[in-house]
Amino acid sequence: MRIYLIGFMGSGKSTLGRYLSERLGLPLNDLDSTFEERYRISIADFFGKYDETIFRNIERNLLHETIHHADALIPTGGGTPCFFDNMEFIKLSGYSVYLQWPVNGLVERLQVLRKKRPLLKNLTDKEFPGWVQEQLSVREFFYKQADLVVDASRLDPEVLASLLKERMRLAAGV
Ligand code: S3P
Repeated sequence: MRIYLIGFMGSGKSTLGRYLSERLGLPLNDLDSTFEERYRISIADFFGKYDETIFRNIERNLLHETIHHADALIPTGGGTPCFFDNMEFIKLSGYSVYLQWPVNGLVERLQVLRKKRPLLKNLTDKEFPGWVQEQLSVREFFYKQADLVVDASRLDPEVLASLLKERMRLAAGV
């Protein structure tokens, strides 16, 4: 089964992805890491050199490539579901999990990561919380289409792993 993790920057997709991949025995395909390994450039540097449109096109291609493997745990980038018909593609291709956080939780978590995220690094301290709130409200239209919405601020990864294991068992018809 393909499992897509979606959610805002800083929601913990990559960390949870590593855990679930091991726990469920599914190969990990973190789209941001795949991008950085394949093009040998950090996403931050890529945004510094090229237009965001180019990034979004490559990101879509990487998403489409996930169809070639029947089993995978796929943490996406925060923007992945929100461009083109990517969310539709995700829904047709596998099981999607939205790691939902309240806006203040995201603002707090992103404070430490801010300088490494190209979309955040030019925002002032004053602009930052409002920007997150606004972006989240736009993006949640897409995120909320996930098959499963979990409250990531109270998430027990072990419980989620058991739930997904059961899903995989059902999907395999055993
Ligand atoms: C982005 C999120 C990033 C990365 C890029 C754009 C976004 O991924 O794909 O910087 O548009 O929200 P993370 O969600 O892993 O930070």
